[in-house]
Amino acid sequence: MRIAVIGTGYVGLSTGVCLAEIGHHVTCIDTSEEKIKLLLGGESPIYEPGLEKLIIKNMDEKRLRFTTSHQTGLEKAEVIIVAVGTPQQSNGEADLSYLVQAILDAAPYMEEGSIVVIKSTVPVGTNEKVKGILDHFGPKGGSPSVVSNPEFLRQGSAVLDTLQPDRIVIGSENQNAASIIKKMYTPLNAPVVVTDARSAEMIKYASNAFLATKISFINSIGNLCEAVGANIEDVSKGMGFDQRIGAAFLQSGIGYGGSCFPKDVSALVAIAKEYSVPFSMIEETMMINNRQKQLLVQKAQNRLGSLKDKKIAVLGFAFKPETDDMREAPSITIIHSLLTEGAMVVGYDPVATLNAMKIFGEQIIYAASVEEALQEADAVFLVTEWKEIKQLVLSEAVSHMKEPIVFDGRNCFSEEAVRSCEEIEYYPIGKPAIIIRKS
Ligand code: UDX
Repeated sequence: MRIAVIGTGYVGLSTGVCLAEIGHHVTCIDTSEEKIKLLLGGESPIYEPGLEKLIIKNMDEKRLRFTTSHQTGLEKAEVIIVAVGTPQQSNGEADLSYLVQAILDAAPYMEEGSIVVIKSTVPVGTNEKVKGILDHFGPKGGSPSVVSNPEFLRQGSAVLDTLQPDRIVIGSENQNAASIIKKMYTPLNAPVVVTDARSAEMIKYASNAFLATKISFINSIGNLCEAVGANIEDVSKGMGFDQRIGAAFLQSGIGYGGSCFPKDVSALVAIAKEYSVPFSMIEETMMINNRQKQLLVQKAQNRLGSLKDKKIAVLGFAFKPETDDMREAPSITIIHSLLTEGAMVVGYDPVATLNAMKIFGEQIIYAASVEEALQEADAVFLVTEWKEIKQLVLSEAVSHMKEPIVFDGRNCFSEEAVRSCEEIEYYPIGKPAIIIRKS
């Protein structure tokens, strides 16, 4: 099949590359000259395991092309996948301006009878609006059909999630268009849910809001465990074996971040408000998450009192491991609070430091290694569970600090690893603290 993908962000690029990998002829279009130049040189503009290898392979095998020109990219395209950003506006609603612009830019070059697939996460009813725009600005002979096909890929495992999805959701009022898109995905051998466009759009929001709620629920249980002296890890394990609950997304920490959960939860709140449907549970999910991001700072204040002039090492800027993405990362809330309290922050992340520099500028110090960050620190915050951080020999790591005080926001260490230290104060999430003093 000949496919054009508009937008080469995480979603568009992973989708385009994987569709080429399963045998389609794909042209990825982006208005950014800089991105297309990188891609034409076989380089990925984003850090995503396995992606660059597939870009080079599929370019060599002549199934993958990149261009800034809509005219070139859309030539003979049977399917046009739109995967541009739909960022959150200040009122919580999704901003559809990039999507509308992408449709308007592409419309003059669309072939008659082609199918427009909306992959971007969009509020319920958007696919119908896109159809309206295309009826007006699309090819005169026959306006393209519109299909909603939300993505569920995670950053850091985008290639794997695209090639081995749990399910594929296809929503359209046009049955013929839906079956062509179903056929496009046949090589993936995944369960397919075919429905109407509004339900497909809702599946995406409902899935992300459910997962976010699962995290806020387990974080609240974790806080309760800490208060009553129970252990959240054993509690999660005990709950997770129940197949109705499932073990995934039961890890208590310092809140969810990223480009999807915070944005999609806010958008669902905005949709519920627009239709006057009470949905306070999802608003609470959001509030719990905002509170959870402040947890480490509160714990540090409880232990150290004022944080003024205290040197705090922050390990991890990215919102989760295996990505350099810092959108809505708990590290941002934490570091801003530390700076407000007058602390001196020294941060380290294996890949996200350049992005951190764009956010914090010269307000913090950027260390080149964990050891450098820990030198003479009054306390350390473990914010992202990078392998490099989890594999630290804790006793050796804390030996660089002025005081061996560890606030672990991701429960990176086993009790055994902590107990092997000669001297440490270790404050995990949802579990009793471990305090070992030099005898
Ligand atoms: C998410 C969805 O998983 C994906 O389906 C959707 O398409 C986009 O949003 P992503 O944002 O890449 O993907 O990250 P994910 O791995 O799902 O983690 C989201 C956040 O939840 C991270 O901040 C992570 O630290 C947090 N999390 C996850 C927890 O706090 N506890 C958990 O048990 C799991």
